[in-house]
Amino acid sequence: MSNIIDGKTILITGGTGSFGKCFAKYVLEHYEPKKFIVYSRDEYKQFVMSSDPVFRRHEAKMRYFIGDVRDRERLERALHGVDYVIHAAALKQVPACEYNPAEAIKTNINGAMNVIDACLNTGVTKVVALSTDKAVNPVNLYGGTKLVSDKLFIAANAYAGDQDISFSIVRYGNVAGSRGSVIPFFRGLIEKGETTLPITDYRMTRFWISLKQGVELVLKALAEGKGGETFISKIPSFYVKDLAEAMLPGCRTTEVGIRPGEKLHEVMVTAEDSANTMEYDKNFIVYPQIMFNERQVRDMSGRAVEDGFVYSSGTNTEWMTVEEIRERLKETED
Ligand SMILES: NC(=O)c1ccc[n+]([C@@H]2O[C@H](COP(=O)([O-])OP(=O)(O)OC[C@H]3O[C@@H](n4cnc5c(N)ncnc54)[C@H](OP(=O)(O)O)[C@@H]3O)[C@@H](O)[C@H]2O)c1
Repeated sequence: MSNIIDGKTILITGGTGSFGKCFAKYVLEHYEPKKFIVYSRDEYKQFVMSSDPVFRRHEAKMRYFIGDVRDRERLERALHGVDYVIHAAALKQVPACEYNPAEAIKTNINGAMNVIDACLNTGVTKVVALSTDKAVNPVNLYGGTKLVSDKLFIAANAYAGDQDISFSIVRYGNVAGSRGSVIPFFRGLIEKGETTLPITDYRMTRFWISLKQGVELVLKALAEGKGGETFISKIPSFYVKDLAEAMLPGCRTTEVGIRPGEKLHEVMVTAEDSANTMEYDKNFIVYPQIMFNERQVRDMSGRAVEDGFVYSSGTNTEWMTVEEIRERLKETED
């Protein structure tokens, strides 16, 4: 992958979030960007981030902008002189989005429109937006808003016209060990001395992706995206019941039923997408159905997937054993 970061100015919306901090650390420790700008609302989260030794070490390059993605003028101010934008800001808790749909729409949909307009108005050349498996055939409002956001970023390549700018997407599922996910939930129960772990459904599967793998995929999209692609990592699947066994060997389990807005499996590529999906060594790319400008070309080094192909954690070809899960759990401990 070519080094396109050195000497460039990068802005990340939602830079104080889990992804944003991991991305910022990775970029600062592996590259020499000119400036790295964090754009988010809460001054305290920015203060805490700026106090981290890694960011202190790079403080000459760091900028902290207070701003809301709902505010286009502020985005335009922040984007002055910026080369690349990573759009990570979102409302992403499924129940919170269900209960506050208008707020989810304002941040995830109107915010996406503002980021696109502001990038087009300020000379940004590359934009990568984060998507989720929940945007694929969505069953909850969070997924619905992210589907609209994905469509907006893909169509933004039409507005680009002759302008040197591309908009691409990176999609992944729940990050192993992320806040509110099953690993910290089981960990909490085990610490309290529970010997029985609740499983929503014994058939439930998930993909295993680390935050670092998510960061690397975004960097790949930044380096290789021509506009309109959805980049998806090839990663292993696991059964949630095997995760319970890996975390508490010999534990009892009970089946407690699927939660509202939850799916049995994570789906990244649907059968309907298969006609526009190419497979590469380490990832898939779903190309847009309509190419909006001549810069949007397919990377032909891969191969087209079969018609009707689905990339789902439930039908994956790569599975983790209990031992492998136990080994990778170590990555989620710090
Ligand atoms: N975590 C996962 O497992 C996962 C999986 C798949 C996809 N994703 C996607 O990855 C992205 C990043 O997720 P994450 O886990 O890093 O989320 P996170 O930890 O909840 O961080 C969200 C970030 O967005 C900022 N933010 C929220 N609303 C904002 C607004 N209106 N204007 C500006 N900034 C705002 C937050 O800071 P303030 O509150 O201070 O504004 C924070 O910096 C999201 O787009 C999410 O949909 C996450």
